[in-house]
Amino acid sequence: MSTTFNPQAVLVTGGAGFIGSNFINHFIKDHPDVRVINLDLLTYAGNLENLSHIENNARYRFVKGDICDAGLVASLLEEETIDAVVHFAAESHVDRSILGPELFVRTNVLGTQVLLEESRKYWLKKIVDPFRYIQVSTDEVYGSLGKNGFFTEETPLAANSPYSASKAGADLLVRAYHETYGFPAITTRCSNNYGPCQFPEKLVPLLIHNILSGKPLPVYGDGKNIRDWLHVRDHSLALATVLKNGATGEVYNIGGNNEWQNIDIVNLVCNLLDRKLDKAQGTSNSLITFVKDRPGHDLRYAIDAAKIKCQLGWEPSYTFENGIDETIDWYLANQEWVNKVTSGAYLDYYRNMYEGRE
Ligand code: NAD
Ligand code: DAU
Repeated sequence: MSTTFNPQAVLVTGGAGFIGSNFINHFIKDHPDVRVINLDLLTYAGNLENLSHIENNARYRFVKGDICDAGLVASLLEEETIDAVVHFAAESHVDRSILGPELFVRTNVLGTQVLLEESRKYWLKKIVDPFRYIQVSTDEVYGSLGKNGFFTEETPLAANSPYSASKAGADLLVRAYHETYGFPAITTRCSNNYGPCQFPEKLVPLLIHNILSGKPLPVYGDGKNIRDWLHVRDHSLALATVLKNGATGEVYNIGGNNEWQNIDIVNLVCNLLDRKLDKAQGTSNSLITFVKDRPGHDLRYAIDAAKIKCQLGWEPSYTFENGIDETIDWYLANQEWVNKVTSGAYLDYYRNMYEGRE
């Protein structure tokens, strides 16, 4: 019978991003004895405002830095007597990876290798025992499904975008560190997340932002691609479960059993916003603009999450209807947050993305 692991000092990488900040905010509240050290480079996607509620918490420390900096990683592990690493830091947006794959390889592959190697050297010193390393990965490493079937943990890796290829490369390094050195790592692969604090380059917050600004809603191709959506809070809870009760060397899929065609999500968000803003139904739908498809656009993702449910007892708590409604309310109440993150460099990126697309 396995025992629950109760970490005392967790090094979270990428904790100022969308999912990492959600994880930290809740993990520190739900675990009154734990310390959290957040190592984040604060790229365009990192935002310390996401952590404003805990910035003065004595059990929380923020360190601005790069996961590729081996010296920094090594010194943090020892200085803070870390007994768990939860690795979120990444370049996370598929469209950006198509425009420039290099940074994705640097951060997602090389960054993971540095973190693994420094963690392995530290783990060998047995300063703490036990030690756990969690690799936060994605269902995109499995490639694309046709109309039927689900990704299981046994599905072969078949990444199709530079982003997913870089995440698959990182996953294979994690596997190799476990197989070769016995390093106590666990990999999770999650489906599409939505919720508060997501950067408005991703579909759901982009739709909300563009509707509020009266801008076109770009739908790639015919809008019939399918994604499996999960609320970010459910992802955070799944990661906490895996950290405490997961078996080393294992992979756990995380998903919402909640498949939607893109065009149906677009229509849903339009209708909900029309209602909330007291506009005639159909007002926001008129902004829908079909644009040239994303190159290599995966048709369908769908996660079989039976393993994490049966072995660790996790399942989603949000219904999509409640989650999306709550998410829209969060964006309506936090326009200042959106305005800040969408100024400057993001505007150039957005123009570059959509200019010339019909
Ligand atoms: P995000 O883009 O919102 O945040 C990424 C964070 O990593 C940012 O805070 C950024 O500053 C930081 N970062 C980037 N490069 C860094 C570096 N070199 N050193 C230190 N920090 C660095 O990403 P997200 O959506 O929160 O995703 C987090 C993780 O979850 C990623 O690994 C992603 O692949 C994975 N994931 C995301 C989803 C999703 O739907 N968003 C689904 C499954 C898995
Ligand atoms: O599946 C997990 C992955 O989900 C994560 O690993 C990634 O980090 C995360 O970005 C997300 O990837 P997607 O490519 O699925 O998410 P995105 O929000 O970019 O797109 C969702 C779908 O909507 C996809 O089929 C492309 C489409 N789309 C997206 C945008 C931004 C549009 O039609 N129009 C758009 O403007």
